[in-house]
Amino acid sequence: MQKIMKIRKIALLSALSVLVIAGCGKQPAKSGKDDAKKNTAAVDSAAAANQKRPYALKEGKRLFNHYCAVCHGETGDGSGQYYGLTPAPANFTDKAFMKTLPDEKLFKAIIEGSASVGKSNMCPPWGKSFHSEEIEFIVGYITTLAGK
Ligand code: HEC
Repeated sequence: MQKIMKIRKIALLSALSVLVIAGCGKQPAKSGKDDAKKNTAAVDSAAAANQKRPYALKEGKRLFNHYCAVCHGETGDGSGQYYGLTPAPANFTDKAFMKTLPDEKLFKAIIEGSASVGKSNMCPPWGKSFHSEEIEFIVGYITTLAGK
């Protein structure tokens, strides 16, 4: 009986020390959580939109490479696998051409297809394929391709 009590005591003590260690271990995790909270708040504020940028660009690039590069080319210069289409896929690395494409027109062309902006119907409408945020990411990425 005594022995069992002793074992219980040891078990209890080690359980306690595990708790204490776990408790200490929690400190940095907790401050990490606070940071995350701060980040969310920052992203929510318009002033910190730039903080979203690295992720937005990365995501825009991923989507562009996956869905658009086949025609528009990995660098956006229009030399994708389907190079030779007439008319050629838009060249997003052409500064002069990009000047004719303000963001609103980019959004419209992407969401409703190139025919919606008076071009051919060679670029399909993508509005149903992406969330509006994803289209923002793609537009954001496209506007960097001419080296802006
Ligand atoms: C099947 C090939 C193809 C795919 C895939 C494609 N495009 Fe296009 N895209 C074209 C062609 C061709 C044009 C040129 C149309 C014209 O000038 O008549 C074009 C033009 C555009 C334009 C310019 C419209 C303008 O006003 O000149 C934008 C913006 C565009 N594409 C965005 C995208 C995005 C974003 C994706 C991926 C989500 C994409 N395209 C995928 C072929 C494609």
